[in-house]
Amino acid sequence: MNRRPLIAGNWKMHLTLAEAVRLARAVAETCGACPDRDVMVAPAFTALAPVCEAVRGTPLLVAAQNVAWEKEGAFTGEISPAMLTDIGVGLTIVGHSERRQIFGESDAMINRRLLGALAGDIDPVLCVGETLEEREAGRTFAVLEEQLRQGLHGVSSEQMQRVVLAYEPVWAIGTGKTATKEQAQEVHGVVRRFLAGKYEKNVAEATRILYGGSVKPENIDSLMAQPDIDGALVGGAALQAESFDRIVRFR
Ligand code: 13P
Repeated sequence: MNRRPLIAGNWKMHLTLAEAVRLARAVAETCGACPDRDVMVAPAFTALAPVCEAVRGTPLLVAAQNVAWEKEGAFTGEISPAMLTDIGVGLTIVGHSERRQIFGESDAMINRRLLGALAGDIDPVLCVGETLEEREAGRTFAVLEEQLRQGLHGVSSEQMQRVVLAYEPVWAIGTGKTATKEQAQEVHGVVRRFLAGKYEKNVAEATRILYGGSVKPENIDSLMAQPDIDGALVGGAALQAESFDRIVRFR
């Protein structure tokens, strides 16, 4: 199966406007030199419109870090899919573990966000992942299946063509502790088997599953060599043009 690799940078709550635009321009250049893969960046909301403007006409994809499910209304602090399409944003992350853990977002809420994105012409990148406690209790696969079952509730096979999944073990995020390539491959295989059970085999084979959690220039090549790892969702190492450039140019 030929899945087009996707290397994504999640900038989280980092970078001033000027820094974001500068970094986006540098990433767009790298991206232009790597036509066989997709490259995405997810700036903070305040930088989205200027970053879209700065990279217009380049193949770099610009994503939001979250999205609401309604078009408009009394939802203080939220941004709608229509607001994103209005400024040229075509994708969004949903269900990041920081949203789950720090801001208490439930699987049900994340599912609403994902369905809202799909309905509003925004392609979602759904994040799932277990905590250290859950892994040590031997509950990794049960936790992931539940996050996937609820997160993808009501999503059709056809809509799945627009969904990207990201496996981000919580214990590997920002800790410098990457899952080994074997650990990551094992989980990606389980996620793909879940998809084959819920949808058809061809949907499972076509869905891109990214790995995230302390991805660095030093480990990207061995992660990408795994059969079920189709890309990376990168935090810290996506904030510097040089390190992200090397990750995008994985071999
Ligand atoms: P780090 O690459 O900094 O571990 O962050 C991973 C992440 O959460 C990307 O969404």
